[in-house]
Amino acid sequence: MTPVAPVNYRVKPGGTLRGRIPVPGDKSISHRALILGAIANGETRITGFLQGEDTLATMSALRAMGVNIVQDKDDVIIHGVGLHGLTAPATAIDLGNSGTSARLMAGLLAAQNFDSRIVGDASLMKRPMRRIVEPLQQMNADISCTRAGKLPLIIHGGRRLQGMDYTLPVASAQLKSCLLLAGLYANGTTCLHEPVPTRDHTERMLQQFGCPIEKNNGTICISSSNGLNAQNISIPADISSAAFFMVGAAIAGGSDITLAKVGINPHRVAVIRILQQMGAGITLANQRELSGEPVADIRIKAGPLTGIEIPLECVPSAIDEFPAIMIAAACAKGTTELHGASELRVKESDRIQAVTEGLRAVGITAVAYDDGMQVTGGSILGGRVNSYTDHRIAMAFIMAGLASKQPIMVQDCANINTSFPGFIDLARTCGMDIQQLTA
Ligand code: S3P
Repeated sequence: MTPVAPVNYRVKPGGTLRGRIPVPGDKSISHRALILGAIANGETRITGFLQGEDTLATMSALRAMGVNIVQDKDDVIIHGVGLHGLTAPATAIDLGNSGTSARLMAGLLAAQNFDSRIVGDASLMKRPMRRIVEPLQQMNADISCTRAGKLPLIIHGGRRLQGMDYTLPVASAQLKSCLLLAGLYANGTTCLHEPVPTRDHTERMLQQFGCPIEKNNGTICISSSNGLNAQNISIPADISSAAFFMVGAAIAGGSDITLAKVGINPHRVAVIRILQQMGAGITLANQRELSGEPVADIRIKAGPLTGIEIPLECVPSAIDEFPAIMIAAACAKGTTELHGASELRVKESDRIQAVTEGLRAVGITAVAYDDGMQVTGGSILGGRVNSYTDHRIAMAFIMAGLASKQPIMVQDCANINTSFPGFIDLARTCGMDIQQLTA
């Protein structure tokens, strides 16, 4: 899972994006479908599953705990073992680069009757885990992280978890989902109060699997379950992956693309609102529901963009899209201001630092704040960008090539495969000229 040799790309400047662009399945929803399918009774079929390294890490972890998961052409079939059917893994569970896998698995593992240990790659080992360890301990779990609050997580099983009433100190769907999974096994009811609403895929999917969830005014309650019922789940295209092509089309003159069947969960769509506020021509068609999630076909055309102050309430709902959005900001007239986004500092890389450094490397004025950044639109001149092995930084700066005057070299791009395998081929099919460089 850890990249062995650096994968660097050189993007030739210019190009136009046109036509229908197929985007792979949603990463967040794919993780949840695997986990709930594994602990349900019966056979779950997943259509549109994201075959990315992050979701495959979740799949391997579940297989290591005795779950039979097979591929049937493009579908994934999970033979659920029931709530209490997981078995002890033989070794530490390595979740690679995936923060979602680590946080969600921790909630599940804290409730099992066996011991386990969670590790990850160099990036995951640096990410904050105290936010999940402390509330799980409050639920009577025996779980610990390092003194610095990092992996490895060491979990001793066989504890009876207790429901609790808890106010989340950070807006984090991973934390919320971790505690909902623990709550599924806990005595009594677990009620979580969210300071700001975040993506509610776990709540929606639990309901799909027959587990009632109560939602009221920012509070989500779950009670211990007697069992989940296997489901057929269809996964929408990932709006966070679509965002790179949305921005690409917005900044590349003459572009006009349609992204089909994209998930438009109300807590994920702020990227659309932000790009529209900047002046991008975006329309939604064919709105419908897929396994309890809203989806639409999104059409986006190139047009002049203007810098904006990003509304604070949009931040949690666009948290993964800021690397892409800041490329749009670099191509906009005027200044874009982002505040309230300190969570960006603890993603796969410190994205405030990586984005501002990358923008400066290609000739754009960018200032980092503790909790955001300021980007002044101008001419992207080209240059060499360090992605810090972060998939979203790599893809954002590859898209910047569409509006650049000279080539852009993006370093350390292997982790694109964590969320968007096939990204480079797809961008090439759309007309971009991207060469892989040998180190
Ligand atoms: C995710 C939640 C978000 C997001 C991540 C996926 C999820 O993380 O950034 O890519 O699937 O729940 P946080 O919960 O840390 O905000």
